[in-house]
Amino acid sequence: MAVYWKYVKPYLYAFILGPLFMIVEVIGEVMMPKLLQMIIDNGIAEDGGDVGYIIMIGVIMVVTALLMMLGGVLGAWFAIKAAVNFAGDLRQDLFEKVQRFSFANIEKFQTGSLVTRLTNDVTNLQNAIAIALRMLLRAPGMFIGALIMAYMMKPDLALVITIVIPLLTVTLLIIMKNAFPRFNIMQKKIDRVNSVVQENVTNSRVVKSFVREEYEKEKFDVANTELKNNTLNAIKLVILTQPVMTIAMNITTIAVVWLGGNQILAGDMTIGELTTFTTYVVQILMSLMIVSFMMIMGSRALASSARIKEVLDTEIDLNDDEAVKKKEAGADMPQVTRGKVEFRNVCFKYYKKKNHNVLHNINFVIEPGEVVGIIGSTGSGKTSIVQLIPRLYDADSGEVFVDDVNVKDYLLDDLRNKVAMVLQNNVLFSGTIENNLRWGDEEASLEDIKRIAGYAQADGFISSFPEGYDTMINQGGVNVSGGQKQRMCIARALLKHPKILILDDSTSAVDTATEAIIRDNFLKEIPDTTRIIIAQRISSVIDADKIIVIDEGSIVGTGTHEELMQSCETYSEIYYSQVEKEEKAV
Ligand SMILES: Nc1ncnc2c1ncn2[C@@H]1O[C@H](COP(=O)(O)OP(=O)(O)OP(=O)(O)O)[C@@H](O)[C@H]1O
Ligand SMILES: [Mg+2]
Repeated sequence: MAVYWKYVKPYLYAFILGPLFMIVEVIGEVMMPKLLQMIIDNGIAEDGGDVGYIIMIGVIMVVTALLMMLGGVLGAWFAIKAAVNFAGDLRQDLFEKVQRFSFANIEKFQTGSLVTRLTNDVTNLQNAIAIALRMLLRAPGMFIGALIMAYMMKPDLALVITIVIPLLTVTLLIIMKNAFPRFNIMQKKIDRVNSVVQENVTNSRVVKSFVREEYEKEKFDVANTELKNNTLNAIKLVILTQPVMTIAMNITTIAVVWLGGNQILAGDMTIGELTTFTTYVVQILMSLMIVSFMMIMGSRALASSARIKEVLDTEIDLNDDEAVKKKEAGADMPQVTRGKVEFRNVCFKYYKKKNHNVLHNINFVIEPGEVVGIIGSTGSGKTSIVQLIPRLYDADSGEVFVDDVNVKDYLLDDLRNKVAMVLQNNVLFSGTIENNLRWGDEEASLEDIKRIAGYAQADGFISSFPEGYDTMINQGGVNVSGGQKQRMCIARALLKHPKILILDDSTSAVDTATEAIIRDNFLKEIPDTTRIIIAQRISSVIDADKIIVIDEGSIVGTGTHEELMQSCETYSEIYYSQVEKEEKAV
């Protein structure tokens, strides 16, 4: 619970006032039957009753009712306020935490599940808090108040209730105990439905082009049916509480009326007293019903809470905590100013438990301003290597240096601001083109943006759109062509004015002539920026100062094109296979 204190503290007044106002309502509720009894017994008295007295009690009842209403409304208001604010802050924190997650962290949870946890699970908690604050004092208050009143009136009759209470409590507890695991499963099924919807909608183009709608429909049907069945399974138990309560209530009422009726006949009890007593019995059982309802909400909330805590408690396996600490202690933080990159004996794997390394003993040095190509067959580890430079992942052993400083010693923001990486499957976000490019530099003027978009050969086609830089990009950037998207992604990276620019297969959808112009522009406009270019086509890297050849996670050759043609068999094989292909094409 300690984790949640942070979200309670700012709204502590609402957390306290909510239940307090509810007490007003409870006191009224317990008083009302007593007042009613006074009116009944006085009104049917043999002398016809005292009208003045009846009116007075009537007025008291009206005032009590008004106070009850006020207490009820204020109590509900503060309860809702507390719950909604609690949930709002919690969601915000969860989101910020997820933002800091490493890829490995996200892969562990799965996106769909994270979405459920941030939305549905938080809402469950919010609902439970709102109900709890309203009922927490009210239900026990009503229970105890009514029980005391009943005992004070007729101890012998009250005994009837005391017998049903433990019976009811045990039944309810058994039901609750079984409800928790069922709710837990239910939340997992919601995860699954979310995942299917998300994957399907995000990739609807692929689904359609492969005519997989039927298959996807079935997949959803399975997830949906499972959710349906598991929800019913959980609710079934909860619904069981209803008949149990109703039966208990009816039996008790019949017993009380029957026993009380006999007492009236014997002259030991008045009609007013019996009416009041029955009301108290109903109140006692009602409060038990409310408690059972609260426990159901509670077990659902507990299941959700466990899932939320899992996110809050996740240790982020890639962070810059050490650097932040140093900065707070007043140390000068290192900055990337030149753009040198060095790998020393770097080994890396995605699945930490497996033995198989994706990268083995990688060693190389890239001098500031150098243009370096990385070539290798698909799956050889090219992306894996460059991801270690801006610390999208961390090396398992060995070190990665930028400007002779271990990447782990930089503040992540400092490092990533200076190392721009155009990812292999990059996306644009919904919004205008200008807004997308501004990711690189919030402050850039439109002229700057246009000029830099020009380097990436993007200005031409953007300006030719009717709305130019104000053209709206749809989610994922589906309304521009692949090559256009790639060029905008390059422009976005260039706008960061990085010291190191990494292009991971970023011109694969751009024709060779345009690609050559972009390369020329780089040479003219950003000659001091270190450029690392991963490419499938040798033509893309043929002019590089140095080419690194990767095969199965190891470096098998380093040098210029001419050197590698002489010394590296893997390289010359790739070269000839491409040249032959081109010749065939001609
Ligand atoms: N997120 C990931 N989780 C687990 N394994 C991965 C992940 N990404 C890549 N791999 C594996 O790591 C190996 C190297 O992949 P990498 O993406 O570095 O290849 P690549 O050389 O960039 O290939 P391509 O030319 O197709 O982009 C492959 O065997 C791949 O299956
Ligand atoms: Mg790759």
